Amino acid sequence: MRGIKGKVAIVTGGARSIGAAIVRELVLEGASVAIADILTEEGEALARELGSQVLFSETDLRSDEQIERCVDATVKQFGRIDFLINAAASYHDKGFESSRADWAFTFDVNVFGSVVLLQKAHPHLVRSGAGAVVNFSSESAHAAQAKRWVYPCTKAAIEELTRSQALDVAKDNIRVNAVIPGWTWSAPIKKAHAENPEWVEQLAAQFHMSGRIGSAEELARAVLFLCSSDASLITGSMLPVDGGHLALGPQGTLELLPPK
Ligand SMILES: NC(=O)c1ccc[n+]([C@@H]2O[C@H](COP(=O)([O-])OP(=O)(O)OC[C@H]3O[C@@H](n4cnc5c(N)ncnc54)[C@H](O)[C@@H]3O)[C@@H](O)[C@H]2O)c1
Repeated sequence: MRGIKGKVAIVTGGARSIGAAIVRELVLEGASVAIADILTEEGEALARELGSQVLFSETDLRSDEQIERCVDATVKQFGRIDFLINAAASYHDKGFESSRADWAFTFDVNVFGSVVLLQKAHPHLVRSGAGAVVNFSSESAHAAQAKRWVYPCTKAAIEELTRSQALDVAKDNIRVNAVIPGWTWSAPIKKAHAENPEWVEQLAAQFHMSGRIGSAEELARAVLFLCSSDASLITGSMLPVDGGHLALGPQGTLELLPPK
């Protein structure tokens, strides 16, 4: 992909799952990466495995100080910042029962952290001359989901935020886009369905034109495309990376015509 080699990215949530796949793909394409995550063991192990192109910076996105430290450490080690990839998220959501504190916690991680990261990294993205931010929405922001009130709202907020951010930083040659993943293999899905992964694949088949759950690597390649200079005209966009999930209506993949 053009415009990735020699660049520097911060990947929040890069210690595992989709975020880790993005870190791996960036390194394969010749970029350097700072992983900003709270999972110290996983993050340090991934950085050790991938070598001098990767830095782990223990960063809780609820802390302005830690975000600033991450930005400083990235510039100190790699000399620049070109891309911010906001893959980190909390799925914390008690639906109807969610307290004010529950709402505040999930918004703090999923929305406010990425806003502060853009504020702190902005001077470096301006210097890049071809900065790119990729935010993470979710299919959850596009339909009612039982017992989930908070997480889908954070993702809906991210879509509107993406449009507003894109407009305000366009003058700095920074593009801001979001991906909308469908069901994607990751640590939470693997954990929830450890005993019966076939069952969740069968369930997903009804809701995705692809007939399957996506892989973290497929998500990562779409994120790299949005960072690359091949996407130079794309900003303020939401890109479904979902095997056709969002394009399906409530009847899913059911055929509505009677059999002949
Ligand atoms: N997996 C899916 O099916 C799916 C579907 C739609 C959207 N998404 C989105 O994709 C992204 C990646 O999700 P995933 O499924 O790989 O989840 P995951 O839980 O495996 O990864 C999320 C990462 O965020 C990190 N994180 C959580 N709180 C943090 C904090 N306070 N500070 C810093 N890092 C923190 C976690 O430690 C973890 O490494 C998320 O934004 C999620 O909303 C995933």
